[in-house]
This record gives sequence, structure tokens and C-alpha cells, in this order.
Amino acid sequence: MFSVVLKKLKDTLYSKSKGGAAIQNIFIRTFSAPERLDMTSLAWVGHIPFAYYLVAIMKPRKVVELGSFKGNSLSAFCQSVEENKLDSKVVGVDAWEGDLHMGTFPEEYYLELKDFMDNHYPNFASLKKCYFDDAVTSFPDGSIDLLHIDGLHTYEAVKNDFETWLPKLSDKAVVLFHDTTVVKKDFGVIKYWSEISTMYPSFNFDFSHGLGVLAVGKNISEDVRVFIDVATKRPAAINNLFYGLAQDILPEKAFAFVEKLRANEEFKCGRQVTHQDINNIRDVALSLEKTNIKHAALLMELAHKLRPNGILIKKKHFEYQENLKSKIAK
Ligand SMILES: C[S@@+](CC[C@H](N)C(=O)[O-])C[C@H]1O[C@@H](n2cnc3c(N)ncnc32)[C@H](O)[C@@H]1O
Repeated sequence: MFSVVLKKLKDTLYSKSKGGAAIQNIFIRTFSAPERLDMTSLAWVGHIPFAYYLVAIMKPRKVVELGSFKGNSLSAFCQSVEENKLDSKVVGVDAWEGDLHMGTFPEEYYLELKDFMDNHYPNFASLKKCYFDDAVTSFPDGSIDLLHIDGLHTYEAVKNDFETWLPKLSDKAVVLFHDTTVVKKDFGVIKYWSEISTMYPSFNFDFSHGLGVLAVGKNISEDVRVFIDVATKRPAAINNLFYGLAQDILPEKAFAFVEKLRANEEFKCGRQVTHQDINNIRDVALSLEKTNIKHAALLMELAHKLRPNGILIKKKHFEYQENLKSKIAK
């Protein structure tokens, strides 16, 4: 992992600008594989390397997440705090009841994540099981350095979340918005992002459903300023860099996931494979088709076994098998 990271950095940013050098130094010191990766909720996984990096450069005093679900994003922030020995507090706020887009889910999701947090990050991480609008009063004004908004994704909900929590942000605050590129009925983050991103320095990652980075504070740190500056000038390089880092995380874990399913094990929370799980496996396979056809083929084969009549899965499964055969023949 480490050498791959270094190579990617050299290929993309090394020595090309002041920002490039700054980004490289941070990664050499900090980047590692994720401590927690829930393979049944992959939508956010692509942003784990950036979350880790951002916390490392910001050294936030308080990180608040609105919408933690199974904890992939929350634990990325926590891991960076822990490994970089930062003096930060991290709070995940969620009612763990589900919402319009997520459906409902069982109490076990909250209990399992609480158990993980208590075991891994007992000194600085906590969960607040309540509605966002109710939680806001327990944070002093100007106290939050990093806010991640990933709750309900309608235009009204995202606007309300940002505006309600705005007074709580410090003068070095950065706000992250997930799902900034999703075009789907009822999803309004894309529209809200198009408005709010013109009002502050900002950058939008275009993969894994999009992650908007909004530098709201009047005194953002020099490293954050440099990042946004470099990213704005070289959006493709920055997107490729972080996308590539995320791809390095996935295959190995995807394999473990495949093995688990092959052994016909149930998931940790004690439920069977769902429709959404199969969609997730399919989506990971699709995301790997250009960079790692071997892993993509394995995952698509699994998706095909689980959903033999799925048209796209069937088509891609055969396409990947053919692709592999021709590679081997060569
Ligand atoms: C998209 S999920 C979060 C995904 C998570 N960040 C990850 O890394 O996978 C959205 C979560 O927000 C929660 N949620 C939505 N609206 C809420 C509200 N108003 N108050 C509390 N929780 C809410 C849902 O229960 C759900 O768990």
C-alpha cells in the first residue's frame, strides 16, 4: 500500500507545485489502510483517503458528522485523529432510524457501531443517537472545525442542515457534503451544491457520488487553502489521485467479502444478503473494470451467482470473463 501511494503521488503531483509537495509530505507521514470498512454500504468508501488526509492537515478540534449509518465515513475521520495523534473530538449524529432514501434499519446497526467506536476510539469519539435539529443545541457556537453533512439528501434537508449548523462553525471550518453529483428523483444536494459552492472557496470530488469541500471559515488553515488552490487548478489530477487511493483500498477488502459470502456466512449484524448488497457488489465490480479486471470479474461472478437473471450483471459477467480469457491468451 505504502509504495503504491508514493508512486501515485510521484506520478501526479510530486515537485510540480508548492501544493503538490505539501500534499506529498502529508501522505508520506500519514496514509494507511482503513480500520473499518463495511462492505454493505459502499457509497462513501471512495472518500476515505481524502477524509483521512483532510483531518491530518486540518487538525480539527471538533469534527461533527450528520449521518453516520454504519460508520465508514466516521471511522475514517477517527482513524486519522488516532494515527496522527491529534487532540480532536469526533461526534457522529444519527437517529439510526433510517430516512426517506435509506429505508428503515434495525437497532443493531447503531449498537454494532457503538461497540466498534467504544473499542477503537474510546477517548475522543462518541455517538449521539438523535435528530440533527435536536442535537444542534448541545454544541456551542463557533465550536466545530469540520462538519460532514450526509443525512437526508433532498434539497430542503441539506439546506436546512447547513443553515442550522452554520452558527456552530468555527472561523477555520470546512464543511463536507456527500452526494453532490447524484442525479436522482428527490436528491437535491447537486442543486444546493451548485448554489453554495459559489459563495465560499470550494472543490468537488466527482467520484463515489461526489463530495463537496466547502471552506466556510474566514481563517482556514494554510494547508486547506493550498489544497483548494491546487485542486481548483488541477481538478483531474486531484480526482485521479484520491480515486486511485480509494481503488487501492477496495480490492483486498472486496476479496475478503467475496470469501465470506462464498462460505455462505451471514453478515455481522446477523442478516442475509439483500438486494442492496448485490447492487453494492455489482457497483464495486463496475468501478474496478478499468483498473483491475481480475477483481472486477470475480465480484461480477459473485453478483451473477446471487442474481442470475439480472440483465446488466449477466452482460458484464460474460464481458469480463471474455476480457480475462483474451488477456490470458495473450
Ligand atoms: C446516507 S446515510 C449516512 C452514510 C454514512 N455517512 C456512511 O459513511 O456510509 C444517512 C444517515 O442519516 C440519518 N439521518 C437522516 N436524516 C436524519 C435526521 N434528520 N436526524 C438524524 N439522522 C438522520 C439516517 O438515519 C442515515 O443513517
